[in-house]
Amino acid sequence: MQPEAVTDKTILITGGAGFIGSHLASTLVSDNDVRVLDNLSTGHRSNVPDGATFFEGTLLDEDTLAIASDGVDLIFHEAALVSVQRSVEDPLTSHEINTRGTLNLLEAARKADARVVLASSAAIYGQPEHVPISEGDPKSPTSPYGLDKLTIDHYARQYHDLYGLETVALRYFNAYGPGQTAGDYSGVISIFCDQAERNEPVTVHGDGKQTRDFVYIDDLVQANLRAATTDAVGTAYNIGTGTSVTVRELAEVIIEVTDSHSEVTHTDGRNGDIRHSEADITAARTDLEYEPSVSLREGLKRTAEWIRKE
Ligand code: UD1
Repeated sequence: MQPEAVTDKTILITGGAGFIGSHLASTLVSDNDVRVLDNLSTGHRSNVPDGATFFEGTLLDEDTLAIASDGVDLIFHEAALVSVQRSVEDPLTSHEINTRGTLNLLEAARKADARVVLASSAAIYGQPEHVPISEGDPKSPTSPYGLDKLTIDHYARQYHDLYGLETVALRYFNAYGPGQTAGDYSGVISIFCDQAERNEPVTVHGDGKQTRDFVYIDDLVQANLRAATTDAVGTAYNIGTGTSVTVRELAEVIIEVTDSHSEVTHTDGRNGDIRHSEADITAARTDLEYEPSVSLREGLKRTAEWIRKE
């Protein structure tokens, strides 16, 4: 079933020049008044669709945030420092942007009485005792990033319970797709596709037996649209596919779908890395009618094609 349409709303998208936020902005801009707040640290101005109003700044810039959020009905909060590795190297900056910035955003939402759909993360669970992981399972993050996301996931629920704010936290598993650019701190699929397209070695960290649940951008957009209209607020949902793949297998499939001559190489394992991750998406299926629709192989083909054109 298609998500209920989001129309005639004034919407703020934080991180709207970045990977997930810009896809949301493009989807919503024709039927809504869309504002984008982004500091362009990893996002690009060119990702912001025509018709959206752009504000350059961070969530720590309270004056800009106040103007951008004034009178909004709905906020999609995608701005974050998304790299687990980077948070291990620089926990203070991760805390400032991911936790403090989100708290500022929730305060702005409280003033505007806006619904907030917020990007939480599978990183909050840390090393799971078993997979698939359900929302009520233990949470013991292995990185500052995961701890920051756990904090804001709790804040979202608290702002609902204490102040009646309509909040929904979406615990993204591993997001990928066109628009996710390759770089030292990028998601593994963008890095592997880039290496494969160049016929360079594909760099698997550690033994490659760690697993991830990779969820394609269109399905993340679908989850956000459903969260924007659901009655089931004040709670958090896993958003993945309910399947997983090892990083080694991922490298091999990417080499195959890109017809690459790359070899797989193994480097040292990464500090703070989670071993296994796979979402139980029963709650999102039941409450949000969320249903992932793009297979990994299809999503990888589309992503590789985009990277080739770039
Ligand atoms: C990712 C997201 C994080 C999100 C989380 C949810 C990014 C950068 N991070 O973290 O925002 O909240 O999923 O689960 O999008 N790897 C390699 N070689 C590489 C790069 C990575 O083998 O060149 C491995 C990593 O060691 C890891 C796996 O691939 O085991 C995934 O890494 P990465 O894409 O950075 O994502 P997560 O750390 O899972």
